[in-house]
Amino acid sequence: MDSRIPGVSCPMNLLLALTVTIFAASTALAQPAQPDGEALYLEYCASCHGANLEGQPNWMERLPSGRLPAPPHDETGHSWHHSDEQLLRIVRDGLAAIAPGYQTDMPAFRGTLSDQEIVEILDYIKQTWPDREREVQRSR
Ligand code: HEC
Repeated sequence: MDSRIPGVSCPMNLLLALTVTIFAASTALAQPAQPDGEALYLEYCASCHGANLEGQPNWMERLPSGRLPAPPHDETGHSWHHSDEQLLRIVRDGLAAIAPGYQTDMPAFRGTLSDQEIVEILDYIKQTWPDREREVQRSR
């Protein structure tokens, strides 16, 4: 995970990331079985997208760098506007894979997470959506 961005843009995020990492590490120790989407989310995504999928503050306004903050993954964001295939590609290969040349703080997780782990994380995110958003996303 690229800890440079949250650390620089907002010290509170770093604090949150540390708290979340410690929490994720302790739950991982408690239940070592198969990949758990929620634990993986907390470990790899929550530092930017929020422990409750709430995203970064003012996520629709550009940062001084010109890039966008991390959007929420709950139904107030627009992750549910993407098909399963697009979501997997965004997380695995980066946003530039679907928008060539796009400059973003969202890292690509190829080499860090397996496809199966990414799908577990996406399943965890999806089960938090209300029926309407799940229905719309399923039909993409
Ligand atoms: C270093 C911060 C950071 C981390 C860690 C991070 N993201 Fe992101 N993510 C972003 C940012 C910033 C964006 C918005 C990118 C943009 O539009 O420029 C984003 C966008 C996305 C999008 C596209 C959302 C949309 O509505 O179009 C998805 C899906 C996503 N992230 C999933 C994940 C998942 C899953 C993880 C964990 C495996 C993760 N992200 C980890 C910063 C991060």
